[in-house]
Amino acid sequence: MAERFDVIVIGAGPGGYIAAIRAAQLGMKVACVEKWKNPKGELALGGTCLNVGCIPSKALLASSEEFDKIRHHVSEHGISVGSVKLDLGKMIARKEGIVSKMTKGIEFLFRKNKITWLKGHGRFVGQADGQYQVEVAGDAGTSVAEAARIIIATGSKARHLPGIPVDNQRICDNEGALSLGEVPKRLGIIGSGVIGLELGSVWRRLGAQVTILEALPAFLGACDESVAKEAWKLFTKQGLAIELGVRIGEVKAGAKDIVISYTDAKGAAQSQSFDRVIVSVGRVPNTENLNLEAIGLNVDERGFIPVDGHCATAKPGIYAIGDVVRGPMLAHKAEDEGVAVAEILAGQKPHIDYNCVPWVIYTAPEIAWVGKTEQALKAEGRAVRCGQFPFMANGRALGMDEADGFVKVIVDAATDEVLGVHIIGSGASDLIAEAVMAMEFKASAEDIARICHAHPSLSEVVREAALASDKRALNM
Ligand code: FAD
Ligand code: NAI
Repeated sequence: MAERFDVIVIGAGPGGYIAAIRAAQLGMKVACVEKWKNPKGELALGGTCLNVGCIPSKALLASSEEFDKIRHHVSEHGISVGSVKLDLGKMIARKEGIVSKMTKGIEFLFRKNKITWLKGHGRFVGQADGQYQVEVAGDAGTSVAEAARIIIATGSKARHLPGIPVDNQRICDNEGALSLGEVPKRLGIIGSGVIGLELGSVWRRLGAQVTILEALPAFLGACDESVAKEAWKLFTKQGLAIELGVRIGEVKAGAKDIVISYTDAKGAAQSQSFDRVIVSVGRVPNTENLNLEAIGLNVDERGFIPVDGHCATAKPGIYAIGDVVRGPMLAHKAEDEGVAVAEILAGQKPHIDYNCVPWVIYTAPEIAWVGKTEQALKAEGRAVRCGQFPFMANGRALGMDEADGFVKVIVDAATDEVLGVHIIGSGASDLIAEAVMAMEFKASAEDIARICHAHPSLSEVVREAALASDKRALNM
């Protein structure tokens, strides 16, 4: 007989594990199905984010930044260092240690909240008497569990391109790119999105010569144009070679190298040889093998599960969250949807303002934004005022030798309401929190300007940009 739960969550990434914890906090009997196995063959919770996404990439970004600082930046501070050696094995092992600590931490949280981990692949096998049946196939065999409420949080995987076989040794997606055994001399990256720029930065800092080939003619099209322009200037100066408007042709993996043939922006045939290649051209939702037909649920033409503003699918009691549904593929968006759905199941009325979901790109300097870009607002015909303030004019940034970039605050011309905040600069991932808070509370630039900001701190740049939107920056 099928074991019955109040709610079954399929997938234990940041969407699923957080949904499971919140539902358990609210008194529900919860099961979470998860099949992920780490390279050691051990089952692991945490999904893409903890195993091969946010956490390991940020560990390598931090390590490679230390290496880069010692090699190129500490001399500015009057510190000279002898020869600097890289122990890549140790760096990768440190990253794996952090992943292991974090994934084990979720096992602890599951035990603490009395969440049953159903180990294996989950798929729908039917519905009867108001209950949905989910089959779980794992190493220990196959069992069936049932619940009237199911949260699908199966996440996403890397999109691959036809004719480019990813083996995660020489041609890698995010999984292999986080575990290269040596620093490649020549690294080719297809796609200059978030992964291309973050992992490109890691391997460039560690010594690779990095070339990024991007299909679109514009760089970082989702960013505010002024931020994208500044990022282009800084990243290319750092040594990332980025070619825009290319069309990738044949990719030939020979004994010695991998040759990518492509057409450049001018239509000329080109080819380049690399030792390793990373394919980072977006991600696709994990909806195949869920047997959604068994409950009569369809996916859209791109494989996403259609949901309404509250993550409800077309089937009563079935919700879907995170990368498997519309909206940005971000861990914190998945988490917030997990909390919201658990609270809806408990009869509460949570709400997510998707316009207030922040974005961060963890390059150096970091890029972060919330709300709309100046070009999007102008396209809507909205009258806006913009205030921009550079880190160069901030004492703390100069002291830290982190003076690149700026904060830009965009406000409604008439009401002064903050409509978007765009940052390129050191600490942007943390500075953006103030902007998110301001927008959630429908603050005006005047509100930000009147809040006392510690001196000297990078947060003063946010205040000055708010003041600049009214042409009254104090330190410029
Ligand atoms: P996932 O994390 O993908 O988890 C889904 C889980 O479901 C997986 O564990 C999978 O094994 C399991 N599953 C799938 N199907 C089944 C099934 N049938 N049965 C059982 N289990 C199943 N986002 C950020 O916000 N910040 C970052 O810095 C960031 N960095 C990233 C870096 C990289 C390299 C990558 C690849 C992604 C990054 N992301 C980042 C994106 C982030 O990882 C995802 O948005 C997030 O993990 C989505 O969470 P999720 O719970 O929807 O899905
Ligand atoms: P992406 O969508 O950010 O970027 C993909 C890039 O590849 C785009 O610029 C696209 O134009 C380009 N591209 C697509 N097809 C191409 C082709 N055939 N040839 C050349 N270029 C091509 O996707 P990415 O970098 O793979 O990351 C996936 C997702 O993971 C991100 O969208 C983001 O949601 C998430 N992520 C978030 C991070 C963060 O929050 N810091 C870090 C890393 C990933």
